[in-house]
Amino acid sequence: MSDERSRLSVAVLVSGSGSNLQALIDAAADSRLAASVDVVLSNNPGAYGLLRAQDAGIPTIVLDHRDFATRGAYDAALADALREYSPDLVALAGFMRILGPQFVDAFSGRILNIHPSLLPRYPGLNTHQRALDAGDPVHGCTVHYVTATLDGGPAIMQGQVEVLDGDTAKQLAQRVLAVEHRIYAAAIALIAAGRLRYRDNKAWLDDEMLETPLRYPD
Ligand code: GRF
Repeated sequence: MSDERSRLSVAVLVSGSGSNLQALIDAAADSRLAASVDVVLSNNPGAYGLLRAQDAGIPTIVLDHRDFATRGAYDAALADALREYSPDLVALAGFMRILGPQFVDAFSGRILNIHPSLLPRYPGLNTHQRALDAGDPVHGCTVHYVTATLDGGPAIMQGQVEVLDGDTAKQLAQRVLAVEHRIYAAAIALIAAGRLRYRDNKAWLDDEMLETPLRYPD
């Protein structure tokens, strides 16, 4: 965080509904989180998350990936657009584009993602159905640092949800999403407090390497 800023400046990237974005905006507004969402960027011009940002008076940027010939060109434009805001942290919140090494290196150790599974189980898509198909008794979500490996960066915090008899993927997703909203703000609050850092491809809490992700609630 720069000296002249007392709050962590966060850029949030969305592709869809943006309910995690809303949770961060709300947490920042009621002082659970010493951070401010200073810009919201989407690859999808129709993302509802953009309207949420506008309602909150937050600047928005649309960079449609279909306007770029290569992933590298898109990543470079994304990095340039965000640099204008000098964010301390880039928070992916349902951002459905894979970011290449060019982007990840530009914001190394300062990119977070929220993923709807207990990583390393179920990286990628359709996580809820995969957990149901496997008969998992417990499912959940993970906040992790983003590296060039998809859903593979060091995990920071996980929230668990019990799988109930007869659950559909949609029902399970709704309960996981409610937990996502809590753990994303909680993990970012640790960064805002200067307690959580990324170093050597690991997450460090209070200068101790996190061997396993924090559990929420602890
Ligand atoms: C969440 O489940 C998130 O974990 C996943 O995409 C979904 C986005 O939901 N990456 P929302 O746009 O924040 O409502």
